[in-house]
Parts: sequence; structure tokens; C-alpha cells
Amino acid sequence: MCGIVGYIGNQDAKEVLLQGLEKLEYRGYDSAGIFVMNTSGEGNLFKEKGRIKELRQEVKQDAQGTAGIGHTRWATHGVPSAMNAHPHQSENGRFSLVHNGVIENYRELKEAYLQDVTFHSETDTEVIVHLIAKFTEEGLETFDAFKKVVQLLKGSYALGLADREQPEKVFAAKNKSPLLVGVGEDFNVLCSDAMAMIRYTDQFMELMDGELVVLTDTAVHIEDVDGNVKERVPYTAELDANDIEKGTYPYYMLKEIDEQPGVIRQLVQNYQGKNGELEIDEEIIQAMLASDRIYVIAAGTSNHAGWIGKQLLEKIAGIPVEVHVASEFSYNMPLLTEKPFFIYISQSGETADSRAVLVKTNEMNYPSLAITNVAGSTLSRESDYTLLLHAGPEIAVASTKAYTAQIGVLAILADVLGRAKGKTPEFDMIHDLGIVANAMDVVIDEKETMEEIARLYLSKTRSAFYIGRAMDYYVSMEAALKLKEISYIQTEGFAAGELKHGTIALIEEGVPVVALITNAETAGHTRGNIEEVRSRGAATVVVSMEGLNREGDQIVLPEINPLLSALVSVIPTQLLAYYATLHRGYDVDKPRNLAKSVTVE
Ligand code: M6R
Repeated sequence: MCGIVGYIGNQDAKEVLLQGLEKLEYRGYDSAGIFVMNTSGEGNLFKEKGRIKELRQEVKQDAQGTAGIGHTRWATHGVPSAMNAHPHQSENGRFSLVHNGVIENYRELKEAYLQDVTFHSETDTEVIVHLIAKFTEEGLETFDAFKKVVQLLKGSYALGLADREQPEKVFAAKNKSPLLVGVGEDFNVLCSDAMAMIRYTDQFMELMDGELVVLTDTAVHIEDVDGNVKERVPYTAELDANDIEKGTYPYYMLKEIDEQPGVIRQLVQNYQGKNGELEIDEEIIQAMLASDRIYVIAAGTSNHAGWIGKQLLEKIAGIPVEVHVASEFSYNMPLLTEKPFFIYISQSGETADSRAVLVKTNEMNYPSLAITNVAGSTLSRESDYTLLLHAGPEIAVASTKAYTAQIGVLAILADVLGRAKGKTPEFDMIHDLGIVANAMDVVIDEKETMEEIARLYLSKTRSAFYIGRAMDYYVSMEAALKLKEISYIQTEGFAAGELKHGTIALIEEGVPVVALITNAETAGHTRGNIEEVRSRGAATVVVSMEGLNREGDQIVLPEINPLLSALVSVIPTQLLAYYATLHRGYDVDKPRNLAKSVTVE
């Protein structure tokens, strides 16, 4: 949530900052701003409600500068507005500051130190810049004042600071929120995500919690709050600039849906050992086998992938699994077994709700595994082990390829665990994942059908349902989330058999109900449930798997191993969400009120 950038060098700072912010827009897009200054310390501040393209129109071309900071916002404190947009400035205009995170004690700090100061925004951030100004006015050097302020802060922050009296420097600090330094020749940059600056450099340094940084055009000085200087060797970001472009696609979501068969094939390759079998680090396997229960912690789509993972791990490896919503688990922890093992599933690896649980389970010394798309992300760093999704950057807010990659990794993990326990596999996972990838291709080729179904059933409706049983129920939850988050249709994902216990009262003439049928054992019952809603006026759409299909089913999926069916049955639901949103005229990639990476609890 919120993206920040900073630049110091000899190029046109405003262009670097704006381009960087465009790449970070997935982190928040309700308002944005930049501050640029020239070598004499003359500065220009631009802030605008809305997206970066709106900010761009405000930025004056003659606002030349060689240093600056920028921010794209997802509002936490105060409405989206130009006033609440960052950077925030000190009263004398000397300091400008951008912030990603939440300052929990900002009211107390305001009360204790800043009673005489006039605030111009409703944000928690503004207090920081006024405190820095106050401590410099009391005689501290900027860096020392900055250090003193961060020691007073409670909460999460990635900060970028510009001081007009030191235009040859940009300052930064980090706690809990992600922040990287990008190193170039004769320039250095700051960014929340390497994606923002990959067109300028592929050399990045990770900052740790509690560290502060001073950037000049040729040097990076890192220090912790106790004054210990830190040496840091840059790593090469393995990010292809093309991966973060849409190319010929109208939206990232469609590109990412299309990438899924390739992601599954790539995953198999990445986890295939020299002997041709799927392999996972022996240490991870032993740690998991030593546990008596797996607890999966995740949010949103990742949580839905966890439910599929539960089926896979229990059925293939015979290990009991509980799946929990991260934000609930954190403050409402169930009674744990004696030897729990925690799996954190997160595309971004930055989700604050999941991290809050990880902090607690680390304190309790429980082993943990992060399943994430982002190497070096917070959850990956703070967990004992990591398994990567290798899905490439996912930019659309609506998660698609990360979901299928998460299920892919969980399937591979279940397969390796099962074999490590001495179980004879009931099927060849590599072979069956290959069939899955081919089946995904077949469904993706049916875009015209999906578009037509979306037009007929979803372009006007106010509400909709997805129903299914077992695996199909778990996919229904994900399908409903996808549809509601981008098309704004109120959608519920429901256990098909549970409808008649109350919710069926909502079914009236024309309400779309999409039923998923991929499992022989439950197919008959789900068919019965379809009849129940149809006879009450529902406009039903049936997605069935070959072999279980009946005449009139609108979408028939190729036959695959039922344990892996989620990987294929989710695809029509992603496409239905995509086309429904297009028909309703909304921005597919950037739905209202949301951000890609949810870094506040
Ligand atoms: O980065 P994470 O996987 O931890 O994110 C968790 C959720 O915020 C995320 O899956 C969200 O539900 C998606 N935008 C839904 O499409």
C-alpha cells in the first residue's frame, strides 16, 4: 500500500520519479505527488488527487531538478485528496517527506511536541516532517534529527526525505514497510519495489528494519538507529523490464490469465531435480514431517489457494492442515497442536495481516515456510524457509496467475512430502500438471464464449452466486472474490448444499448462479442444487468437466485429475470476471478502493 520513489543524480528527476510511480501504481492509486529540487535547493511540489496520469498533467515541464521524492497513495488516514497526498512539507518548506506505512502514535507525538504547528492534512505522516523541522530548528543536523524522529515513531514506515538545504542528498528510513536502494552510475534511487526503477538499474540493496540511508549521486550510506554503519553489497534484480509491460494486451489481468499454462510448466521445471523427480529442499521436508499439523495463514486469494492446498496436502501426503484468514488468526489464535508448522502464502510477501501472525509464531519459535512470488520479500526473509512461485511479476490487482502458481507449488509440496513419507504416489504429478497446463490452454482459447456468457449473464446484474462442493466450493470462493473485486457485482461463493439453509432466499428471477462441477462424487448433488435455484428463477451457468457434463452446460472443461481441477476450473471464472468488468465499463486492473499489496493491518 502506497509506493515511494526517490532519485538523486544528474538526469531530469521529475521524469524518473513519474516513471517510477507509474510502475508502483499497483500499490495505491487514489492520489500522488512528487517534490523535485535543483542543486541550489530550489524546489517544486506537485500533488494531485487521482492517478499518476493526472499528476503528470499538473507537473510543469520547467520544474527542473536533479533530486526528488515521489509517492502514490492508498489512503489510510484522510480521504484521497491533493491535500492529503504526499509529499508533506514542513511549515518553512525546507523539508519534504513521503511515507508508506502507518504511524500508530502520531496523535501522541502531535500532542507532545507539535502543539504550535499548523497541520494541513489529515494524515498520520505529516507529524514526521514537522518533527524533523522542529529538531533541526533546535540545532540538530538533518540526519540526526531524522534519526531522533524515527526512534519516536511506532508503526510501519518507509520514508523518503528531501532537505532543500542539502540538495545533494536524499534521506530514507525503513521499518516494516519495504524499501530498496537502487545503485547506478552517477545516480542512486529509492523505491518500494525494484520494478519501479528496473529501467534505470538492476543493482539493488535491501534495507533492514531500523536502518536509515543517505544517498548522494555517487554514494549510499546506511546506518542503524544506534549509529552502526552497515556495509551492503548490491544484488542483481532478476527482473525483465518486458515482464512489467502490458505489451499488446489491453490489461495486465488478461496477460496474466494467459500466462498461467506457462507458469505451471515453468514451475514443474523449477522444482524438477536432476533425477527427473520433483524436489524440495530436504530441510523443509524434514521440518514439515516433524510437525503434527500444518497451519496455513493467508489473506484473500492466497487464502483461497490455501484451501485447495489443504485438500492436496491431506489427500496426497496425509498431513492434517488447518487454513486460517491471517487477520483473524492474529488476534484470535486457536488452540495449537504440540508441533505446529506454519505456511504463509502470499503473492507479494508483504501482506501485513500475514506478517503480524509470522511475528507471533516466530516469537513462539514455530517453524515457518513462505510460499511467495517475491524473493527477498518480508515474509520470505522472516520465515525459516521459502518456496518461490516463479510466476513473474503480477501487476493487476486481481490475482490470477499467483493463485494457480500457489496451488501448483502446494501440489508439488504434497507430492514430495507424500513420497518422503514412503507413500506410493497414486498418480504422476509431473505428468498430470502437464495435462493441466494443456487444459488451461484449451480454456483460455475459449475467450469468445466467456465474453458472451459475461455479456448475457453479468453485464447488468446487481448480484451473482458461484456454487460448488468440496474443491468446487473452494474455487467458488475465489471466483466470487474475483468477480466482486473488479466488476462490483455483489457476489457470494457458496457451498452448493448450504444454499437451502438460508441464502436461497436471495435467489429471484434472473439472478446469475454459476455452478462448478469437477468431481464425480459430488456432481449429482450439485446438479440437484442447480435445479433448486433454477426453479426459483436463477439464470444458471454450468461449468462442468468432460465426463461429468450434460447437454446444455455452457462451459465444458477438458478432463483432468480431479485433485488438480481447481487449476483449470478457476480460469473461466477469471475470464468471466474480466469480461463482466469490461462490459460494465470499469478499469479491470485498478478496481476502486483497492491496492495490490496490502501492507497495513
Ligand atoms: O500478496 P498477498 O497474496 O498476500 O495478498 C493477499 C490478498 O490481498 C490478495 O490475494 C487479494 O485478495 C487479491 N487482490 C484478490 O485478487
